[in-house]
Amino acid sequence: MSDTKNDPKKNVTLRSAEWFGSQDKNGFMYRSWMKNQGIPDHEFQGKPIIGICNTWSELTPCNAHFRKLAEHVKRGILEAGGFPVEFPVFSNGESNLRPTAMLTRNLAAMDVEESIRGNPMDGVVLLVGCDKTTPALLMGAASVDIPTIVVTGGPMLNGKLNGKNIGSGTAVWQLHEQVKGGEISMHEFLAAEAGHSRSAGTCNTMGTASTMACMAESLGTSLPHNAAIPAVDARRYVLAHMSGIRIVEMVKEDLKLSKILTKENFENAIRVNAAIGGSTNAVIHLKAIAGRIGVDLELEDWTRVGRGMPTIVDLLPSGRFLMEEFYYAGGLPAVIRRMGDGNLLPNPDALTVNGKSLWENCKDAPIYDDEVVRPLDKPLLKDGGICILRGNLAPRGAVLKPSAATPELMQHRGQAVVFEDFEHYKSRIMDPDLVVDKDSVLVMKNCGPKGYPGMAEVGNMGLPPKLLAAGVKDMVRISDARMSGTAYGTVVLHVAPEAMAGGPLGIVQDGDWITLDCAGGLLNLDITDEEMAARQAVRVRGSAPGPKTGYQQLYIEHVLQADEGCDFDFLVGPRGSAVPRHSH
Ligand code: FES
Ligand code: MG
Repeated sequence: MSDTKNDPKKNVTLRSAEWFGSQDKNGFMYRSWMKNQGIPDHEFQGKPIIGICNTWSELTPCNAHFRKLAEHVKRGILEAGGFPVEFPVFSNGESNLRPTAMLTRNLAAMDVEESIRGNPMDGVVLLVGCDKTTPALLMGAASVDIPTIVVTGGPMLNGKLNGKNIGSGTAVWQLHEQVKGGEISMHEFLAAEAGHSRSAGTCNTMGTASTMACMAESLGTSLPHNAAIPAVDARRYVLAHMSGIRIVEMVKEDLKLSKILTKENFENAIRVNAAIGGSTNAVIHLKAIAGRIGVDLELEDWTRVGRGMPTIVDLLPSGRFLMEEFYYAGGLPAVIRRMGDGNLLPNPDALTVNGKSLWENCKDAPIYDDEVVRPLDKPLLKDGGICILRGNLAPRGAVLKPSAATPELMQHRGQAVVFEDFEHYKSRIMDPDLVVDKDSVLVMKNCGPKGYPGMAEVGNMGLPPKLLAAGVKDMVRISDARMSGTAYGTVVLHVAPEAMAGGPLGIVQDGDWITLDCAGGLLNLDITDEEMAARQAVRVRGSAPGPKTGYQQLYIEHVLQADEGCDFDFLVGPRGSAVPRHSH
């Protein structure tokens, strides 16, 4: 059963046989050094070798429980007759890594790609969790394209403060504004830390980690329910075990990632993102993953496919609940069932890793709580799709998340208050004499992929303290930065091209009028073409501040703009799983 190499029915040639299958000097060397781990000879006789790509790190707290997760994946692989080999890759921890974990997403993806292709591996299990680990591992695996399955670490249990639930990240933004507005004391603020993160797992809001977990499941790259089972729920480990069994079967079926990651699967994911009120970061990550597998995805696909899909998952930061309730309500299969029942699933027949279609997996999914996964006619928001904006201020696009915005501000005309970069914002926003009112538009430059290498999540600029104290809750904010998936507000992000790459964002001045029209997809700087050209002619472009490491230099030179997914220009596209030449 385990010897698929010689099974004529399956006719799958194991790439690991290129290492271990020969009785010569090379075979000796590849096997012998592996045997120092106590591996008996029969393990090398044609068993599918399954890599477990682990982003475990104590510096990535969201993934710190992954050694245990890997053990359960191994049990499944062994049960199915495979040979598990666990290997580490660069771990992008969102909470600790400075200047931003996004800077090293592509580095991790390179690590993953080279680790898979260069090693004896017939299939791979991707252990992902914290925000950037999911796209990084999927990008790297997509460029190699062997059978691949995603196992996510799962979200944290609900945060607790004063007997009430609080959501990862979102609570930080709210509490910080309450301190600045004088509503709570610094002592109360700091006391919230421990209850905010009280179990293993990723952010429990519908932030980027939960969003990307839902993207992986709706893309079909994981087993059903992978996105929502809490990290500490025993069923998370059952899912890991079952994924281990399944990847061995996938190798025998030669079910490669490219058979899963088709345009149809991406369209499903885009629509699901609207249904869950997912993070804007998904726009960048899905584009980058699609680019690796050779699927053409455009910003306008988000309008074409996502528009009109109501947000039915009532989770913070857009709604009320957290991932724990989401799982108890039926998880992502419940959402997909609602979508399919309403004829709102674009491609029900899209294939998933268990060999069944997305709709087969979800059509009978139970829905336990209509408050959390709401009926289509009682949505959180009628049209939840990511809003794509273009205009003379963003010729190559910008995005806004309607479910996080204030409806009245989504059509707005106001005068710019300009910050040249993040440091300028931080000093100027505190100025009590700053000329700003609730109708102003806060504009921040030089925080895009090249300008703040890595495109930090600083786009949800906090409001001026004097306006917060006056009770202002939201204002239009525009930048070339990203925003944490746990944040909220009427925030225009990912303006492309970015200021540092010569984009028109760089020539906005204090007092300029700006028009935002989400319904019309417009973001305009209300100056004449002549004025625009005159300002462009005299503008001086700086360079990103701070020390530049070798990797940062590489990043600045090769990173693509947000509309292209911020991958490196030289990494786009599939490169296959052909076995490299011998090392000795
Ligand atoms: Fe890791 Fe939010 S910081 S998932
Ligand atoms: Mg995040």
